[in-house]
Amino acid sequence: MISINENYLKLQASYLFSDIAKRVASFQEKNPDKNIIRLGIGDVTKPLPTACIKALHAAVDEMANEATFHGYGPEQGYAFLREAIAKNDFQARGADIAADEIFVSDGAKCDTGNIQELFTTSTKIALPDPVYPVYLDTNVMAGRTGTFSGGRYQGITYLDSVKENNYVPDLPKERVDLIYLCFPNNPTGSTATKEELKTWVDYAHKNKALILFDAAYEAFIRDESLPKSIYEIDGAKEVAIEFRSFSKSAGFTGTRCAYTVVPKVCKAFDSFGDKQLLHPLWNRRHCTKFNGVSYPIQKAAEAVYSAEGKIQTRELTDYYLRNAAHIKAEITNLGFDSVGGDNSPYIWIDGQGRDSWEFFDLLLNKAGVVCTPGAGFGKCGQGYIRLSAFNSYENVVKAMERISEALK
Ligand code: MLT
Repeated sequence: MISINENYLKLQASYLFSDIAKRVASFQEKNPDKNIIRLGIGDVTKPLPTACIKALHAAVDEMANEATFHGYGPEQGYAFLREAIAKNDFQARGADIAADEIFVSDGAKCDTGNIQELFTTSTKIALPDPVYPVYLDTNVMAGRTGTFSGGRYQGITYLDSVKENNYVPDLPKERVDLIYLCFPNNPTGSTATKEELKTWVDYAHKNKALILFDAAYEAFIRDESLPKSIYEIDGAKEVAIEFRSFSKSAGFTGTRCAYTVVPKVCKAFDSFGDKQLLHPLWNRRHCTKFNGVSYPIQKAAEAVYSAEGKIQTRELTDYYLRNAAHIKAEITNLGFDSVGGDNSPYIWIDGQGRDSWEFFDLLLNKAGVVCTPGAGFGKCGQGYIRLSAFNSYENVVKAMERISEALK
């Protein structure tokens, strides 16, 4: 008899963004003439930078010629891209990360979801609440939680990220092994200072724990005092893995390219308490289950680091930050409290006592605007909604006019 992995039965309904997409599709079916503006899922709308398009075209031409054709590439990514990443994203900011510590992949979602395979089932997980649902759901699938009750899974240490702590969680009271952190944060848009990250790095050292640091939104940081990488913090290389993506920084959501940094000194422990390095384990996993990102896409990603690529990607993130500033100003004018939107494309809005899904329905039905209900990101997200700045400026202006009208 073939038996299922019953951990899957513990999962809540469908994945948050699939659930929202279904609701929006059903609304559109009933209201075919209604023009819907999507400020829900963080999906970019602007085309790829010209530098990336040029590199992509050139690489496709190489694939058309037997002399320059590329078959399987290195699973970890081509040296040209890994070197450009190490130099520009880390060494240029004083973080000592080498090219062979970078693992190129097709998405931070996959990497943050897959990384937990390296750790034993009894690993004690700490997760912010609210949180990007992938971190939690993949640990549920792996059997690291009990059942879902009262809005939370048993066995998980939830780190409340609320107004009172400025949406930066406090250290857990109990000892945990694996900590997920994401800054600039999805969904709240909050940021963490170097001092705040240092307390987590120190905690990890003291408790032989590991930090999984999701920096997918670092390109939106404009405050120069804020860290873009956890490796800007002393001692982080031993206790942290970092995830990055070209999705939001360079418009690659449909193109797919990301990377994970596993420093060679980064460690965990075996059942005898002996140190085990994570770099060879992730390398083994990557080579076994992944055949690399396609050559043309890696050439397009490399172009992000060219002189024109840097200007064009900055223009892209500036464009979305202008949208974010508009959303933030309008929502503040309407009397709502919010966080994010200055060093982040997300604005996290306190619904003034409204249920998250009711607020979602209200905006969809009365304004034709899609948001993301905060409750979908965890118990502490109840009462909040998230607006994303990923759309055209014109649509954002229109959406905020409609929201103002709907909330009058
Ligand atoms: C989001 O809207 O939270 C993100 O787009 C989801 C993702 O990057 O997978």
